[in-house]
Amino acid sequence: MVRILGIESSCDETGIAVVEDGRVVIADALASQIELHKVFGGVVPEIASRQHTKIISQLTKDVMQRAGGDVDAIAVTYGPGLMGSLLVGVCFAKALAYSWGKPLVPVHHLEGHIFSAFLGDTVPNFPFLCLIVSGGHTQLVRCDAPHHYEILGSTRDDAVGESFDKVARLLGLGYPGGPAIQKAALEGNREAYAFPRSMKDSGNLEFSYSGLKTAVMYTMREHPENLADVAASFEEAAVDLLLIKTRKALEMTGLGQLVVAGGVAANQRLRTRLQELDAQVFLPPFKYCIDNGAMIAAAGHSRYLHGFRGDIGLTPQATLPLS
Ligand code: KG4
Ligand code: ZN
Repeated sequence: MVRILGIESSCDETGIAVVEDGRVVIADALASQIELHKVFGGVVPEIASRQHTKIISQLTKDVMQRAGGDVDAIAVTYGPGLMGSLLVGVCFAKALAYSWGKPLVPVHHLEGHIFSAFLGDTVPNFPFLCLIVSGGHTQLVRCDAPHHYEILGSTRDDAVGESFDKVARLLGLGYPGGPAIQKAALEGNREAYAFPRSMKDSGNLEFSYSGLKTAVMYTMREHPENLADVAASFEEAAVDLLLIKTRKALEMTGLGQLVVAGGVAANQRLRTRLQELDAQVFLPPFKYCIDNGAMIAAAGHSRYLHGFRGDIGLTPQATLPLS
């Protein structure tokens, strides 16, 4: 039995968790900063890092108390993300590792999202295809074995979560945009507007979301009264492009298992439409779709077993390739 403490602070959530054997969450806590950033319509990096600094210590104390007992190692997100926010988590994890005499395990944020699939009741087996859909990334990744990844396609411009956030701002729905659009779309007609599915016929696995955002902007100027229809048609177009590219990736790779992870994996319409695919689909539990400490502990568990270690010189990386 191996217990890992996971620490996530790459953006605007402070996530702490103790996870056993990469699968079972013993205790966890998530402090969202949404209320602090809402008034600015997006994440303000300086406010984010200050808030992480304020609460990371107490949050960890609470989780460790609830978990009871010791941990075998400390896993921390060291990139990609906001530099100030990453620094808080990495420095805190280094200090803990040093004072507790425990190994430090650096974790890539997107690998954390991939491993969030192992926190569910049924889990995938390598190799599998992973669709990562978050505020910063839209990627199709071939996962051959733990820590062996090949990026098959990414977005050329906006990430899909980013497009939800930008369109929500255009529609005056506030931040974060994903849940707000999902709610507004429930009242609308998905077929009211035929928004573009950019690059759908490109023949490759690349995505593009900025044209969709622009199309929504022009439509909203002409029909400001049709907010629900615009939201529903936007959501449909955004989800449709994910389905088109994922179907193609499944065909090209011949893989039969699909993991969908990241904040946008919480989207209900996407979850429903994934059933159309000819694959066994694995989704993280709803609460582990958005950034959290448990996914970092899950990925950290595997990295710990594979001998990955960080030392006191570990520095965060704002940009960090997965493969
Ligand atoms: O994975 P995540 O917490 O942070 C990043 O690593 O970026 O993802 C956050 C993103 C935001 O863009 C948010 O709008 C989106 O996930 N999101 C959703 C939903 N819930 C969160 N997008 C669509 N539908 C949702 N229900
Ligand atoms: Zn994330």
